[in-house]
Amino acid sequence: MTCFSFYALLALASVGFATAGFQEPLQGSGSLLSDKWKWTQCGKPSDPVRIKSIQVSPDPPQPGANMTVTVVGQANEQIEDGAYADVSVKVGRIQLIHREFDLCEEARNAHTDIQCPVEEGEYTVVHTVELPKEIPKAPFNVAVRGFTVEDEPLVCLDLTIDFRT
Ligand SMILES: *[C@@H]1O[C@H](CO)[C@@H](O)[C@H](O)[C@H]1NC(C)=O
Repeated sequence: MTCFSFYALLALASVGFATAGFQEPLQGSGSLLSDKWKWTQCGKPSDPVRIKSIQVSPDPPQPGANMTVTVVGQANEQIEDGAYADVSVKVGRIQLIHREFDLCEEARNAHTDIQCPVEEGEYTVVHTVELPKEIPKAPFNVAVRGFTVEDEPLVCLDLTIDFRT
């Protein structure tokens, strides 16, 4: 289920990180030559998880090829079992997927180094997925809304990836 792991990755990408501090980036994008994707951090600076950087390789991502995503982020509070993310993926205005992911369970299933409870600190999450060859040649909008087990905001991330050539 390549598609599923692609979306799971996007959800997982949100459990990682960012840096507390006044200079933290609120958004980022690919290299200057590539404006094919970008991310925006929504939410508040006081959210438990803040994202510092996101990189993809190759940049821009290629349908049918492996894509490696590196997310650096900061957990400013312990992340406990029960944290979840609401992920919606749209192509234009058409919603492809709207799903809730148990972040700790996804991390366990993916055998990542980072396991719940996640202590405060800076984390780097690297994950590779094979992008489906038949991925629509269109702009994707991915909205990730993470919540703690107490239903408080955890992390907030919007991503756009444009697969048009
Ligand atoms: C992606 O990586 C996996 C594991 O390294 C490999 O088996 C697979 O052939 C790669 N796929 C492509 C399209 O390069």
